Amino acid sequence: MSNLTFGIIKPDAVRAGKQGAIIQKILDAGFNIRGMKLIHQTVKQAEGFYAVHKERPFFGELTEFMSSGPCVVLALEKEGAVKAWRDLMGATNPAEAAEGTLRKEFATSIGENAVHGSDSEENAAIEIAYFFSKLELV
Ligand code: CMP
Repeated sequence: MSNLTFGIIKPDAVRAGKQGAIIQKILDAGFNIRGMKLIHQTVKQAEGFYAVHKERPFFGELTEFMSSGPCVVLALEKEGAVKAWRDLMGATNPAEAAEGTLRKEFATSIGENAVHGSDSEENAAIEIAYFFSKLELV
């Protein structure tokens, strides 16, 4: 799993019709897309996915937002995928995101920040398994 990471194109970016532009940037950055699907999470599914954040004050806002519309879940492959995808996404807060990053271009706030990415190889494996069966990974 070491060359794999997990990503989400969040409901704000899908609502804005930016999923195609974001997928093109992912391909241009040299990622191989090993899994991809459009899903609309329930609040319970979003709560399960973000369980590590359940004590945070923004947990309710986060899970409500993540279940507010369709999103695109992705299994991405590249050498050093976790860091490469975080670099392409940019800082969590778009106000701090560097030029050329996805969050600089597409995010509107720290909560509605267009994309998600795993923070470690271990979590990438857990997060891919949360959304994809083996049959859905090519
Ligand atoms: P993500 O990478 O999906 O992981 C956790 C998410 O929590 C993060 O992106 C942000 O969208 C969200 N988040 C972090 N801090 C805040 C905050 N202060 N208020 C609202 N949402 C936040």
